[in-house]
Amino acid sequence: MSVSLIVLAAGMGSRMNSEVPKVLHKIGAAPLLHHAMAAGIALDPARIVVVAGHGAEAVAKAARDYEASAETVLQAQQLGTGHAVAQAAPLLETMPGDVIVLYGDTPFITAATLERIIEARSRHSVVVLGFDAADPGRYGRLIAQGESLERIVEFKEATDEERAISLCNSGVVCASAKDLFALVAKVGNENASGEYYLTDIVAIARASGLSAGVVYCDEAETLGINTRAELAAAETAFQTRMRAEAMENGVTLIAPETAFFALDTVIGRDTVIGPNVIFGPRVTIESGAEIKGFCHLEGCHISRGASVGPFARLRPGTELAEDVHVGNFVEIKNSILDEGVKVGHLTYLGDTQVGEFSNIGAGTVTCNYDGVMKHRTVIGKKAFIGSATMLIAPLTIGDGALTGSGSVITQDVPADAIAIGRAKQVNRPGLASVLFAKLRAAKAAKKGQ
Ligand code: UD1
Ligand code: CA
Repeated sequence: MSVSLIVLAAGMGSRMNSEVPKVLHKIGAAPLLHHAMAAGIALDPARIVVVAGHGAEAVAKAARDYEASAETVLQAQQLGTGHAVAQAAPLLETMPGDVIVLYGDTPFITAATLERIIEARSRHSVVVLGFDAADPGRYGRLIAQGESLERIVEFKEATDEERAISLCNSGVVCASAKDLFALVAKVGNENASGEYYLTDIVAIARASGLSAGVVYCDEAETLGINTRAELAAAETAFQTRMRAEAMENGVTLIAPETAFFALDTVIGRDTVIGPNVIFGPRVTIESGAEIKGFCHLEGCHISRGASVGPFARLRPGTELAEDVHVGNFVEIKNSILDEGVKVGHLTYLGDTQVGEFSNIGAGTVTCNYDGVMKHRTVIGKKAFIGSATMLIAPLTIGDGALTGSGSVITQDVPADAIAIGRAKQVNRPGLASVLFAKLRAAKAAKKGQ
C-alpha cells in the first residue's frame, strides 16, 4: 500500500534563540529536516509534503536538496499541529493509502519503527507513536489501555493524575489520507493554548467509531530538539551511533570518541581512521584506505589503498584514485589525483588534474585564483614537481616533465622537459665574514652611544 509523508517544519523554534529556522540547525553536518525525512524516505513514499512557515524558502530548498521530489506547503501562521497538517490537504487528501505525520525537529525516528506503525494500521484506523518517558515533562500524555488508545491530553490541559502518566506522545501519527484530513477538519482550538491540536484527532476518531492504537518505541528515537543544549546532546547521540555503525561495518576507529561523522558519510571495510578526524558532508571512502589523525574531509572520494594525513584538508570536488598518498599540511580542492600520485607535504592543489604516479614536491602551490577567476592546472603522468614550485594557472605540465625547486612556472611545460624559473645563483667568495664584521662594528658603536 502506498504511503505519503507530511513533515511539520513551520515552527520558529524560539527556544533556539536563532535567526535560523529550527529544522535547519544541523546534526552530523545535515539539517534536522534531513534526518527527519530520512526514515520516511526509506519507506519509498508516494509523496513528501513539508509544511513550512518560518524561513519557508530556505526550508523548502533544504527539503529539495535532500529529496528532489519533496513538495512544500506554506503555513503562514502557526496555529497548531492540527492546522499544520490541514495545510497539506489540497495535495494529499485524494491520495490512496496512508499518510504518516513526522516532525522536522525529531530526527532519530527509525524506518523500522515506521514499518511497525504501518503494520499496526491493519488493526487501527489511527496509529500514534508513543514512548515511556523517564522525565515526561511537557509532552502530551497517552490515555491508553494496552495497544488501544482512548485520547491524548496535552500537558497544559492535563489533570495532576494525567500528568502522572509516563506514556507520552512522540507526535508521529498515521492514518489513511481520507480519515486523517476528515478528522483534522473537525479539530477546534478551544483549549489552554488556543491552538489546533493534531492530538485531538484520537478522541474525535474514537467518538465516530474508529479505532485508535499506539505503537511504542525507545525514548531515544523520539528525542525532540528545542534548545541548543538539546541540539548538542542530539549531536553526541548521533555520533555515538555513527561510530558504532562504522565499527560494525569493519572500519577501525583508533579513538572512536574523536571521530565526527556526517549523516551521509560512507566508509568501506578495513579503512583505518586515526584520532580527531572530522567528516563534512558527501565523503565516501573505499575499502582499505587510511586517514591519519587530524584530517578534515568534505565532499571528497578516497579510493582503495589511499592514505591521507595527518593534518590534511580535502575540500569539495577532491577525488583520490587508488594508492594516492596525501601527507601532512596538504589542502586539496576540486582536484583529481590519479593512481599512485604522491603529495607529501605542505601543498595546496586547487582546480588541478594530476596524472598517475606524479610526485608533487613539498611546498608546491597551484596559484589558481587571479583575484577574479579560477584557473586549471593540468599535470601529466609521472611528472616531478620540484619543492616549492609555484604553478601559475592556467597551466599544463606534460608527462614526465620536471620543474626545478623554487620555480615560478608561468608557461606550459612540454612532456619530458625540465623547466626552471628562478633567479640564477651568484657566489661571492669570502664576503660573509666581511659583512658580519661590519654588522658587529655597527652594533658596538650603537651600544657605546
Ligand atoms: C507536540 C504534541 C505533543 C507531543 C510533542 C512531542 C500537539 C498538540 N502536541 O507538542 O503531544 O508530546 O509534540 O514532541 O501536537 N508545527 C508546525 N506548525 C504549527 C505548530 C507546530 O509546523 O502551527 C511543527 C513544529 O515546527 C514542530 C512540530 O510541529 O516541528 C511540533 O510542534 P511543537 O510546537 O514543538 O509541539 P509540542 O508543543 O512540542
Ligand atoms: Ca516540540
